[in-house]
Amino acid sequence: MRVKIAFLFFCLVAAAHAQSSIHTQAGTRIWNIHAGKMSYVIGVDEENVLQSLYWGPTIEDSYQWPTPHSQPERASFDLPINTTPLEYAGWGAGLFTEPALKVTSASGDRSMVLHFESADIEDKRLHIVLRDVHSIRVHLYYEPYPEGILGRSSRIENSGATPVQVEQASSATWSLPSGRKYEVSWLTGQWGAEWQLHREAMQPGVRVLESRRGSTSHQANPWFAIGQIDETTEHSGPVWFGELAWSGSWRMTIEETSLHLLRVTGGYNPFDFTYTLLPGKTLETPVFYGGYTADGQGEASRILHRFQLGKILPHHPSPAPRPIVYNSWEATEFGVNEKGQTALADKAAKLGVERFVVDDGWFGERNSDKAGLGDWTVNPKKFPHGLKPLIDHVHSLGMSFGLWVEPEMVNPDSNLYRQHPEWVMQFPGRQGTLARNQLVLNLARDDVKEFTFRWLDKLLRENDIAFLKWDYNRNWSEPGWEDEATESGLEHDGQKAIYVRYVQNLYEILARLKANHPELEIESCSGGGGRTDLGILRYTDEVWPSDNTDALDRLRIQEGFTHAYAPQTMAAWVTDVPNFLDRRSIPLQFRFFSAMQGALGIGGDLNRWSDEDLDSAKQLIAFYKTIRPIVANGNLYRLESPSDDDTKPVEYVTSGQTEAVVFAYLHAQHYGMTYGNVRLYGLSPTAMYRIEQFGTGMNRTAASVPGQILMTQGLPISLRGEFDSTAFRIVRVP
Ligand code: DGJ
Repeated sequence: MRVKIAFLFFCLVAAAHAQSSIHTQAGTRIWNIHAGKMSYVIGVDEENVLQSLYWGPTIEDSYQWPTPHSQPERASFDLPINTTPLEYAGWGAGLFTEPALKVTSASGDRSMVLHFESADIEDKRLHIVLRDVHSIRVHLYYEPYPEGILGRSSRIENSGATPVQVEQASSATWSLPSGRKYEVSWLTGQWGAEWQLHREAMQPGVRVLESRRGSTSHQANPWFAIGQIDETTEHSGPVWFGELAWSGSWRMTIEETSLHLLRVTGGYNPFDFTYTLLPGKTLETPVFYGGYTADGQGEASRILHRFQLGKILPHHPSPAPRPIVYNSWEATEFGVNEKGQTALADKAAKLGVERFVVDDGWFGERNSDKAGLGDWTVNPKKFPHGLKPLIDHVHSLGMSFGLWVEPEMVNPDSNLYRQHPEWVMQFPGRQGTLARNQLVLNLARDDVKEFTFRWLDKLLRENDIAFLKWDYNRNWSEPGWEDEATESGLEHDGQKAIYVRYVQNLYEILARLKANHPELEIESCSGGGGRTDLGILRYTDEVWPSDNTDALDRLRIQEGFTHAYAPQTMAAWVTDVPNFLDRRSIPLQFRFFSAMQGALGIGGDLNRWSDEDLDSAKQLIAFYKTIRPIVANGNLYRLESPSDDDTKPVEYVTSGQTEAVVFAYLHAQHYGMTYGNVRLYGLSPTAMYRIEQFGTGMNRTAASVPGQILMTQGLPISLRGEFDSTAFRIVRVP
């Protein structure tokens, strides 16, 4: 009998769904949600409690799920509430695992026991309502996407007559199948060293990933991927993964309970958090997206990439590949002026650059990071005739124009601060803590929100600006405000609602700017990659992953980045050597091939580039333009280096398997070995492919090779010495 059940299960799993749908099992309170090749099943048990039943490969709707039962207690110390995979648990009634929700009611009752109330499917979204006796309703939303992603969020509603304090509010808890040995991957970092990938076997206990900093942070990114030990590799095996769409303080708790149940709970960071819910009010949580694949870590990333392009980015479902940007920050820092920028624009245009961006220093008394932030009028000494002459000149060269802004910050030495000292985040009677000589404006206040929107909107109306580099160069230190008499309603939600209101207002400003200026493109930058998440990416077209532009460090940074985010969103510049951070000198071609992994830009001082370098750069940019659509929209494969080198080759393949591009890098040759064969992925085994190798001063086409050979024997690559690099364009022969 056991064998039969196992066989039936296999058949049901094997038939994969390519679309998304929600199926209510007839006569039951069980829902089978399909997203691409993934199914997610929940059901209400005989105690009227919502349980997680399944998260994995597709299960056909023909399978009749039995009514779920709560699990038996484990002695008197672990009641069924701890042994049963609850879908969304309130803290109370003896729950000792991570709760999704913790609320204190006006009476002082601090427990929350949620029972099923109703369910309906509205506009391709499953909406489930749970309810506690104290008239707290929790609305759970499930929105499946054909890319293989399920979006989950919650809305906490106070339907009682007295206010309650929400102390912990998660978007979702994800439960993984029990009885397996898991390893978890996550990303951490710091300024200049973001996107460091970690992988570790799960043991009973909790791994907390979080930011308490008010924004997404360099410290950790709201992404996780969980594979199975000894089964999951880059190219095969099961992976359960997720990403939280929130640009404020967040937390993910990856917990293997002492009873070996693995759950991931994520949402608002409960640290220093309380949200007062008045009667009739609600609190919405961010969307926590999750996915599953049977095809390894690489495919988990590709699912996320396709989903971001198809459903998240402002110009989804087909955002155009990013233009090639020139930015002089590393060359001039604050010393921008009309003459210097015009000269650089002339040089950039000759290379084939498509967008010219003026960075920090164009406004107010902004000659260093000590003053001027907040005074968003053009500095008349640097740009005596305003920005228009430069913008017109940039346009006459065939490039679009972009501008740096940092709207959420203020220097105390600024007119804005002198006029509105009450607009910064602060605690009454306490001196604000400076970072980079700046304070954070309290965007949670509606007056600050309106001011910020208005000056940005005016700037965009008065100037032909195609792109804003939106920077954010510090974290929070005193997350409060002096006077509660604002019109924002914060006095009702409580001071700590700042963690929610600030980010909501930031999103509102971005949405209104996008509505008024539909062609506007924005980069999310936070001293590098400190604000990269699916929340901000709904409004921003790209991110700046790191201020570290050393081409070698960048390979590791970019590899980590692609685990969670699409190459198209990854801005990458070629800058000068020796690099400002590591003092390393890397040849120009290597720097270009490193930056070509994402949205290529140039960030060096072109006045110092030799004619030879300028000529090489021109060739490399022309090559990039031929492969850019493959990088931007193709499927990314992180390949294995055949040598012991610390760099990894990468491959991008178009969805029709007609074209691919491969980049390979050598940090240092050892023992006279010349690299070796790199095994490719994602090609059609039966098709023939022409191999075109590209390098500066070199353009070689080899005989055609079957895809099968490239994917088994591999592509032979010879790299020598130090910092050697190469690129291949691989074209299917008709
Ligand atoms: C930090 C950014 O990451 C840099 O690229 C540059 O824009 C500076 N801020 C400007 O202050």
